[in-house]
Amino acid sequence: MSASSSVPVLTIDGPSGSGKGTVSRRVAEHLGWHLLDSGALYRAVGYAASMADIDLSDGDAVTRCAHSARIRFRPSEDGSDTRVWVNGHDASDELRTETCGATASAVAAIPSVREALKAKQLAFRKRPGLVADGRDMGTVIFPDAPYKVFLTASAAERARRRYKQLKEKGLSVTISGLQREIEARDERDASRPVAPLRPAEGAMLVDSTGLSIDEVVASVIALVQADT
Ligand code: C5P
Repeated sequence: MSASSSVPVLTIDGPSGSGKGTVSRRVAEHLGWHLLDSGALYRAVGYAASMADIDLSDGDAVTRCAHSARIRFRPSEDGSDTRVWVNGHDASDELRTETCGATASAVAAIPSVREALKAKQLAFRKRPGLVADGRDMGTVIFPDAPYKVFLTASAAERARRRYKQLKEKGLSVTISGLQREIEARDERDASRPVAPLRPAEGAMLVDSTGLSIDEVVASVIALVQADT
């Protein structure tokens, strides 16, 4: 058994807008564990590839970019947030856009890109524990994780949440347009042959439609604490 395999991991997988990001961050803070936002890695590769004018259908070129991109997670100056730096540039704001989400989903469908990002993800497994947020955390990256959650919400509910977030940032979007984008991305993520989005065996299924973030956070913490 390697030293890292004795470090506990809680995997939180699910589609975008299910509340995974917020729930993962809050649970990691509560437990005092590290946090892996694996979606940010795919977004960063998509961003680096776009910056380098790489054609996203050229899998070899995108894979080289995934290997060479310098992706760093650093606390913001006031410590309230984590910023993502890509090739020496704070790209956090660009990474959160819908365009970058769609680019991430395209590069994430390339098997060699997923392989290139595997070691970077495994390196987050450090004491005292890790909360890993993504699509294949429990199925592919940390299959031996002792705690697994699959978080969902209806597409309409996820579109409403995303609409609220983007409106707060002053962006001009419509709920129906967002719902269409969300459904298209879900379909791509669930139907790709490599690491399709699906619940890991034994994962606790949580449908967050109609639940508050506090309720979801409490049920996920209870899963870990029931065992410790
Ligand atoms: O979670 P987030 O919306 O940031 O992820 C962006 C995209 O990256 C997803 O739509 C998905 O295609 C891809 N992704 C993935 N595997 C992960 C995390 C994200 O394929 N573990």
